[in-house]
Amino acid sequence: MFGKITKELFGKTQIETPVFQYTLENKNGMIVKALNYGGIITNIWVKDKFGKYVDVVLGFDSLEEYEKLNHKYYFGAVIGRYANRIKNGQFKIDDTIYQLALNDGKNSLHGGIGGFHTKIFKTSTEITPYGPKLNLKYLSHDGEEGFPGNLLVNVIYTLTNNNELIIEYIAQTDKPTVVNLTQHSYFNLSGKGCIYDHKIQINADLYTPVDENLVPTGEIVPVENTPYDFKQPKNLGKMLEKIDYDVNFVLNKSKIATVVSSLETGIKLEVSTTKPGIQLYTGNFLDNIIGKSGNVYKKHSGLCLETQYFPDSPNKKNFPNVILKKGDIYYHKTTFKFTVEQ
Ligand code: GLA
Repeated sequence: MFGKITKELFGKTQIETPVFQYTLENKNGMIVKALNYGGIITNIWVKDKFGKYVDVVLGFDSLEEYEKLNHKYYFGAVIGRYANRIKNGQFKIDDTIYQLALNDGKNSLHGGIGGFHTKIFKTSTEITPYGPKLNLKYLSHDGEEGFPGNLLVNVIYTLTNNNELIIEYIAQTDKPTVVNLTQHSYFNLSGKGCIYDHKIQINADLYTPVDENLVPTGEIVPVENTPYDFKQPKNLGKMLEKIDYDVNFVLNKSKIATVVSSLETGIKLEVSTTKPGIQLYTGNFLDNIIGKSGNVYKKHSGLCLETQYFPDSPNKKNFPNVILKKGDIYYHKTTFKFTVEQ
């Protein structure tokens, strides 16, 4: 027995499109639930050090709330075509200037107002020898939100029997374009309250500082002697007394990118990725919103670990290249592994 998958109606969109929730369960009883709307991960149930199940991600109870409010929070969603900010929503490929929809002041954020977090994906499921798998597909048309090229996107969630959620991102285009896909789950490994008892380690010697609009300045600077130095595990609560985090780290080429754990539950999350960066966002814009089961989410109720190319790379020559050409395959893999520390 390698786990199971069930499917249920989650709700209907404003235009009456049915949305389904898929429940992936591995042989240890760990559960991941996801929607075909925005590829949204609604729940991740993990056993804590007392053997009790804890839901370690934030979200809403209804589709209506995701439709109305998630453009502000992006709870659990697949982000595309471009994670994080593109300055002035503009970039140039081969002398053509492309103008994107602006949804964050002067900038484009997370693919625009009609980004992938709002799209209905085609789905298929499979029970593999590794565990249950949900395959999400979406064809983004040439010009959608201002991006060039027809982009075929495939996001695969596999819940392995080692308690890993593996996310694979595959994309192909028929015209040069820019691509940066990520997953916007907010983790709270205690299952409630704030993330102040969480410990975090990020294997990054460098980070990309931002301007007043949270767009990278283009500099790549050492974390040493700054509050961005998480090379050794640090208590997040203490660090959050000084600053809020919403910044991209340049990952070292180590096996594990980031480790986070909760003192209360002992749940530990290890993130590894093929991508060059990770955005640590500490839920700074959570504004007493009512989420799942009536839980109130306020500043620091969760943290996002968005594996990514660096924000605004299309306008920064010194950042890794994000242009995808016809015939190329964009392939990335991020693994979220859950264990328990006593
Ligand atoms: C990202 C951004 C933040 C914010 C959140 C969504 O993490 O970096 O500035 O926009 O998404 O609220």
